[in-house]
Amino acid sequence: MNQELWTKVEEYFGPLVQEDKALKAAAKEGESAGLPAIAVSPNEGKLLLLMAQMIGARKILEVGTLAGYSTIWLARGLSEGGRLITLEYELKHAEVAKKNIARAGLNEVVDVRVGDATKTMSELLKEGAGPFDLIFLDANKDGYPTYFEWALKLSRKGTVIVADNVVRDGGVIDAASKDASIQGVRRFNELVAAEKRVSATAIQTVGSKGYDGFLVALVL
Ligand code: SAH
Ligand code: DHB
Ligand code: MG
Repeated sequence: MNQELWTKVEEYFGPLVQEDKALKAAAKEGESAGLPAIAVSPNEGKLLLLMAQMIGARKILEVGTLAGYSTIWLARGLSEGGRLITLEYELKHAEVAKKNIARAGLNEVVDVRVGDATKTMSELLKEGAGPFDLIFLDANKDGYPTYFEWALKLSRKGTVIVADNVVRDGGVIDAASKDASIQGVRRFNELVAAEKRVSATAIQTVGSKGYDGFLVALVL
């Protein structure tokens, strides 16, 4: 098993996933603007869309926008009249994302908010923006424990919380890791495991973006 094979298999499933022009453009624009190539894979993006559809999501919150690639997948899974709020710290990323979201025809559906998600999530709570039907955590990994606490406050019974990058090439099992991202993800996984208000699992993935995984939690 190797990266080359994982990428080929992901491409083999392309006809199933159907990444369209607007999504391809979003990925390309992000990279030409110098943003890191760390968006979700097409296959994971499609899964996010399907999850949103499966639960009939009308309100989605995304934490970590980058160039808006996952945002576009998620927003397309909203039911009629639904809205998505996406939170991004870097102004430059938010500007690239807004163009990509507009190109995908989702201007009226998506609200990009710039700032530290710890602050913007607390503002969402204050303004009564929740509860959200689906919350996708994908910003800085050392922030995941805090984002999980805020996500719970912005949830209701039945809310689905998805967190990206919980495996990190298997690095997640290294308790002695000096990597703040690994420690953040480990703490997050422990918090979810200990939290009686959620039921959760974690799925390991391989594909064009390497070996990683995502956690899915249902608020009980
Ligand atoms: N969800 C995107 C990828 C997000 S990458 C996709 O799959 O297409 C992580 C993003 O989180 C980066 O754009 C980064 O700038 C942002 N980020 C980092 N720290 C943050 C913070 N404190 N608050 C909000 N966003 C943050
Ligand atoms: C990183 C962040 C991500 O959201 C991702 O999907 C992959 C990598 C990172 O910070 O390295
Ligand atoms: Mg990610």
